[in-house]
Amino acid sequence: MSVFELMKKRCSVREFTDQPVEEEKLIRILEAARVAPSAANRQPWHFIVLRNQALKEQVSSHWGAKAPVIIVICGDHISSWHRKDGKDHCDIDAAIAVDHMTLMITELELGSCWVCAFNNIRTAEVLDLPEQLEPIALLPLGYPAEFSDPDRHDSQRKPLEDIVSWDGYKKG
Ligand SMILES: Cc1cc2nc3c(=O)[nH]c(=O)nc-3n(C[C@H](O)[C@H](O)[C@H](O)COP(=O)(O)O)c2cc1C
Repeated sequence: MSVFELMKKRCSVREFTDQPVEEEKLIRILEAARVAPSAANRQPWHFIVLRNQALKEQVSSHWGAKAPVIIVICGDHISSWHRKDGKDHCDIDAAIAVDHMTLMITELELGSCWVCAFNNIRTAEVLDLPEQLEPIALLPLGYPAEFSDPDRHDSQRKPLEDIVSWDGYKKG
C-alpha cells in the first residue's frame, strides 16, 4: 500500500470488537511514535498505554473506554522547544507522533480515533502525572467494528483550491 493509500484508508473508528490487541502490534505502534520528528529533536512526549478497564473508564467517560486499549499522549512542556517569541511546540510535536501512530494502526488493520474532548485535569490526577506532563490526546484503539469509505474524502474534505494559494496569500 502506498503512503497516500494508507492515509486515505485511515479513518476515525469509534466502535471496536472485543478482540484484544497483540502486544507486538502495540510495540510497533509505539515505535512509530518514537521515530516521529520533533522540534529540535526534543521528543517532549510520554505515552501511557492503558489496558486496565477501571483506568480506561476514569480517563474516558464515553465510547473510548470500550476500546481494548487507550494510549494517553502526554506532552512535556519543560523539554519541548520554545521559539524566541515563546511559542511552545509541544502540541505540534505530540500531533506528529499521534499521526504516525494512527497510520501504523491502520497498516496493522486496527482502528483508532483522536480524542481531544476529554477531561485532561482528571486524567492527570488519575495517572498521577508530574506538573510538566500534560495529557494532550487520547487514542482509543482496537480491532474495528465499523469502517469508512476510503473515497469519502472527495465529499468530506475541502477542495485544494479552497485551501492553497500559490506565490502569496489570496483571499477566497
Ligand atoms: C486534533 C483532533 C481532535 C479530535 N478530537 C475528537 C474527539 O474528541 N472526539 C471524537 O469523536 N473525534 C475527534 N476527532 C476526530 C475527528 O472528528 C475526525 O478526524 C474528523 O471528523 C475526520 O474524520 P476521519 O478521521 O474519519 O477522516 C479529532 C480529530 C483531531 C485531528
